[in-house]
Amino acid sequence: MDKIVILDFGSQYTQLIGRRIRELGVYSEIVPGERVADADLLRDCVGIVLSGSPSSAWMEGAPSPDRSMLDAGLPILAICYGIQWLTIHAGGSVERRETREYGSMPVHLLPEARAEAAWSAFTEGLPERFVSWMSHGDSIVRPGDGWKTIGVSEAGVPAILVHATKPWIGLQFHPEVSHCEHGMEILSRFVFGVCAARRGWSMEAYLEEEARRIRAKVGSEPVLLLISGGVDSTVAGAFLLKTLNPEQVYLLYIDTGLMRKAENEEVMRNLSRLGARHLEAVDAEAQFLNALRGISDPEQKRHIIGDMFIKVQEEAVARLGIPEAFLAQGTLYTDLIESGKGVGNKAQVIKSHHNVRSPLIEKKRAEGRVIEPLDRLYKDEVRALGRVLGLPEEIVGRHPFPGPGLGVRILGDITKEKCDILREADSIYIDELRRRGLYDRIWQAFCVLLPVRSVGVAGDERAYKYVVALRAIQSEDGMTAKPYAFDAKDLFEISAAITNRVPQIGRVVYDVSSKPPATIEWE
Ligand code: XMP
Repeated sequence: MDKIVILDFGSQYTQLIGRRIRELGVYSEIVPGERVADADLLRDCVGIVLSGSPSSAWMEGAPSPDRSMLDAGLPILAICYGIQWLTIHAGGSVERRETREYGSMPVHLLPEARAEAAWSAFTEGLPERFVSWMSHGDSIVRPGDGWKTIGVSEAGVPAILVHATKPWIGLQFHPEVSHCEHGMEILSRFVFGVCAARRGWSMEAYLEEEARRIRAKVGSEPVLLLISGGVDSTVAGAFLLKTLNPEQVYLLYIDTGLMRKAENEEVMRNLSRLGARHLEAVDAEAQFLNALRGISDPEQKRHIIGDMFIKVQEEAVARLGIPEAFLAQGTLYTDLIESGKGVGNKAQVIKSHHNVRSPLIEKKRAEGRVIEPLDRLYKDEVRALGRVLGLPEEIVGRHPFPGPGLGVRILGDITKEKCDILREADSIYIDELRRRGLYDRIWQAFCVLLPVRSVGVAGDERAYKYVVALRAIQSEDGMTAKPYAFDAKDLFEISAAITNRVPQIGRVVYDVSSKPPATIEWE
């Protein structure tokens, strides 16, 4: 399968580049910007993208692509920082500008753009002027040797550059951002026009390739998958049941006590429909709640939950008599990135996703006994794979639910009483969204129980009750998000439904924060 490799220098948009190329039907892989070329990386690679970066290319210690990548003889699309770095290293100059070029900015194609027949695959059909999306404080002042400017910004700054002798293109704007006019067209011209990539990326192709890889790795040994009830682990379960012998697949559902209302029954029903032969539900509510008693720190909660998962799982594995089983997980591409797991350059840990960073998982990983059949997929691709595997829409269309469950939606310490209150409020909220036809328009919605009580009135009496926050966001993959713009009437009615039916809740608020700066979950 042809692929495009993206060298990540830490731009907030790197993920988008990866997604967009896949949307074009070509496999893309994001690797740290300084990665040295090796046979594995270059196999089937037909082009390279250099991403943007928060760094300045002229700074000491600025991140650099390795020569081996640049000398691989492949087409290159250098975006923003990428082209600035190439400019400096070809004897050109880049300087900090007094004013940033930021946001929607027109680009003008110069007559030279049309003159060069060699570049027609890239430029043909593009209008003389289009509105791009820019985000840079540094600008190219003089192109490097061999580079030619064929498009400029309103201020005359080079915005599209081409190399005279190599199939290299530089852009001082972001075609991957949806606000950039002709952005997809520009990417597609690079991918198909310049790299001559063949479309091979589809969920059917992924299923086939990944199935081969995993069969080769596990042979006939047992594989154990922890099921959380969410879309990812259910799709991972369906994947294993489809690609391996169902007799070797052990599905273990742990009821942590932090699940949503009626989730247990729903999960078990769905899994048996998948044809599972070994399916076990473990009631571990008491163990989880005891371990969490009195703990308020979010990171500590996540670690406790993650480790308890492993402990309960190890006990179950011992009972099942499969101690050496491979451990399967529904980890996604974005989980690895947000946990700083070495995909791309974004090494800081935003949240420790327990399914990635738990020390016990790390041990299994070091032994080479973890399999993650979804770890190259974005969330929407997981849904598409679920459909290919024949899962019903009510499962693949479900909103994401985090591994630590309600544990990260009850702020402060966790008790069974609080879990029950939150379960009730959340189920009313979700039912209301479905009833109003809003569920499928929202990427993720849930309630959060706040660690404060607030004064209210109940009949003639003052009451001191809990406050819940409603969250509803729109997103493409959970990496960025915007609050959903409800009609006020819907919000008021949902609030009334919750306070009328959950006596412990006296107040409902709506969270209007975007990600960034907030995250989707509150902890
Ligand atoms: P945040 O809160 O980081 O969430 O903006 C992004 C997406 O990831 C989900 N999430 C998790 N999923 N384990 C998971 O499996 C976790 O620890 C975890 N934390 C957040 C969150 O629900 C959202 O969809």
